[in-house]
Amino acid sequence: MGQFVVRGGRRLEGTLRVKGSKNAALPIMAASILASDTVILDGVPRLRDIDVMIQVLQALGARVWWEDSQLIIDPRHINQYVVPAELMQQMRASLFVTGPLLARLGRAVAFQPGGCNIGDRPIDLHVNGLTKLGAQSRTQDGQLLLETVGLTGTEVHLSYPSVGATENIMMAAVLARGETRIRNAAMEPEIVDLAQFLETLGATIRGAGTSDVRIEGRETLHGTEYTIIPDRIEAGSFALAAALTGGQVRLENCLVDHLPGLWGRMREVGVEVREVDAETVEIIAPKQYRRMSISLHTNPYPGFATDLQPQFMAFLLKVPGVHLISERVFENRLGHAREFRRMGAQIAADQRVALIYGGHELYGAQVTAMDLRAGAGLILAGLGANGQTIIEGREVIERGYENLAQRLSQLGADVTTL
Ligand code: EPZ
Repeated sequence: MGQFVVRGGRRLEGTLRVKGSKNAALPIMAASILASDTVILDGVPRLRDIDVMIQVLQALGARVWWEDSQLIIDPRHINQYVVPAELMQQMRASLFVTGPLLARLGRAVAFQPGGCNIGDRPIDLHVNGLTKLGAQSRTQDGQLLLETVGLTGTEVHLSYPSVGATENIMMAAVLARGETRIRNAAMEPEIVDLAQFLETLGATIRGAGTSDVRIEGRETLHGTEYTIIPDRIEAGSFALAAALTGGQVRLENCLVDHLPGLWGRMREVGVEVREVDAETVEIIAPKQYRRMSISLHTNPYPGFATDLQPQFMAFLLKVPGVHLISERVFENRLGHAREFRRMGAQIAADQRVALIYGGHELYGAQVTAMDLRAGAGLILAGLGANGQTIIEGREVIERGYENLAQRLSQLGADVTTL
C-alpha cells in the first residue's frame, strides 16, 4: 500500500480547477452500453475507479480508449454479459452495467460487489427494480443471474432513494417497452447528469432531479458526445481544505448550486463563501474561528452529502466548541474518528454518531484510510496538524481524487506520495 505524506501548518492559497465528477462519469460510462454507436465523453477524471469501469466495458466487448482528454467508447460489438468477478470486487459501481446489459442483451451475470468499506451496502433495490421491469433473477454460488425476454415499463417505488438503484433502473428503462415511473427516486445532480446524457442518446426522461422520474422507452438509442459535470465532492473537499488551513482559494468549474448543504454550514462558522458566478466560488477563512456548536446530519440530496462527512469532521476539529455529526446514509461510516484520535483529536463516536470537541491542536501521526472519503478527511486533518502525517492507503484515496498531492501542492500545501 502506498502513502500520502502531509506536513501540516501551511495556508492553502490560489486557484484550482475542479475535475469532472467520478460518480456522474461511472453510470454514464455504463449507460454507453445502450448506445448503437460511438460515445465520446469529455471531462472524465483520470482515476482508478474509471480504469476499472473501462476494464468492465472492455470485458463485455466494447472498445474503449482515450484520445487526449476524451474518453471514447465504441459499444457496437458488446456481446458478453458476465461482469468479471475480480472487477466487481474492486468497485461497487460495476453493478451499474447490469441494467444496461439486461436492456441490450437480455442477460447479465454479476457478483456481490466490493468497493468502499462503509456498511453492508445490499443490492436489493437494484434487483427488485430490475425484476419489476420484467427480469428474472436468481443467485447461484455467489453469482447474481438476471434474464429477460423483454423489459416492460412499470412503476417502481424505491423504499429508499438509492442513487445507484435509481440510475440502474433508469438505464434499463430507456430501452423497455412503454413508460417507467420511479417513485422516491434519488435526486442527486449525478442522476440529472445521467438523464441528460441519456437524452442526448435519444431517450425521453422527465423529472430527473425530483423524486418522481418518468422514462419513455425507445427501440434504439444512437451515439453522442457529452461533457460530464464537475465533481461536487472534490469541490467540497478542496473548499474545506482551504477553510481549515486558514487559507483563501478560488474554485473554478465548481457548480455552486450542487453543494446546497455545505456553503451554509461553512458560513455559519465564519468562513466567507463568495459566489463569483454559477461556476466559481471563493473560500476565505476567517482569522479565527469563533466558538460555537455545529450539529450536522448527512442525508440524501439535497441534504448534506455523506461523501463530505469525513472532510467536514476534519474541518470541525479546527472549530472551537462541541459538535455533533450523525451519519444517516451509511451505517458504518465514522471509522475515521478513530484515526483522527491518533492525531490528538477529541472525538467520541459509535457507528452512527460522533461528538467532536473542536479547537484542539492536532499532531502528525501514522493513520490509515479505510475508505476513499475517510482518506480525504485524513489528508485534510494532516494539513491542519502540527508535524508530519503519514496516511496509509494511497490507492484507496486515488480511487476518487486525481493528482491530489500535486494539486494541493500547487495551492501551497506540503504533500507528497510514497
Ligand atoms: C453512491 O453510492 C455513490 N457512489 C457513493 O459515493 C455515495 O456515498 C452514495 O451514492 C450516497 O450518496 C457512486 O455514485 C458510484 P446508495 P450508492 O445506493 O449508489 C442502501 C464515494 O465515496 N441501499 O444511494 O451505492 C445503502 O446500503 C462513494 O464516491 C440498500 O439498502 O449509494 C446505503 O445505506 C461511496 N439497498 C443507502 O442505501 C440497495 O439496493 C444509500 O446507498 C442500495 C442501497
